[in-house]
Amino acid sequence: MTEPVLQLRGLRKAYADTPVFDGVSLALAPGEFVAMLGESGVGKSTLLNCIAGLDEVDAGDITLAGHAVRTLAEPERARLRREHLGFVFQAFHLLPHLSVAENVALPLRLLGRHGAVADAAVQALLAAVGLGALGGRSPAQLSGGQLQRVALARALVHQPRLVLADEPTGNLDPATAEKMIDLLQAQVRASGTACLLVTHSASAAARADRVVRLTAQGIVPG
Ligand SMILES: Nc1ncnc2c1ncn2[C@@H]1O[C@H](COP(=O)(O)OP(=O)(O)O)[C@@H](O)[C@H]1O
Ligand SMILES: [Mg+2]
Repeated sequence: MTEPVLQLRGLRKAYADTPVFDGVSLALAPGEFVAMLGESGVGKSTLLNCIAGLDEVDAGDITLAGHAVRTLAEPERARLRREHLGFVFQAFHLLPHLSVAENVALPLRLLGRHGAVADAAVQALLAAVGLGALGGRSPAQLSGGQLQRVALARALVHQPRLVLADEPTGNLDPATAEKMIDLLQAQVRASGTACLLVTHSASAAARADRVVRLTAQGIVPG
């Protein structure tokens, strides 16, 4: 059996005295597209942040691309994110002082990839999210739905091993949302990228290979 891209075992998380989740276990194989449902406030965004090494769990193991995330110091975590992870944050987190195209190019620049091939990858992804003409704009000049699509392009541009997408179609109309899921799925199929998609959209979840639900007691079939 191929080694999972992501393996979660027995994760527990609380904020101070408030438990968030416990007993969270999940494995994603290369190229697997998993949708994660769960009530608002159950800890979906928190879980994605913990997987990315941006927040801490209190117990359990997180293995990402063969690395035990919890044992890594911040510089190694940053390198792991750069090399293997694409993250579509719920609040986008684009850099306001960079243009749209520079935001999408950032993962490539951080890997030392400059030049015509990198620029073509940026332009291809901007076109794929329907923003081919807007690369020169500043994020402040885009709508929420456009920012969300820039965030998706940035998460895919370096063909990471794992994409974590936190409600990436929440600001989009149904037709655009469908196109964004097409793009995610195409990359999953073409590059063997695994994807953990947090969504409230039944139509997005229906496109996944597997649907799971996060509860306070762990992950159950969706
Ligand atoms: N930094 C934080 N400090 C304290 N509590 C937090 C923090 N971030 C999130 N929470 C709480 O943790 C729970 C899970 O939040 P979140 O992961 O955003 O849920 P979801 O994404 O499933 O809606 C919520 O009750 C939220 O209020
Ligand atoms: Mg959330």
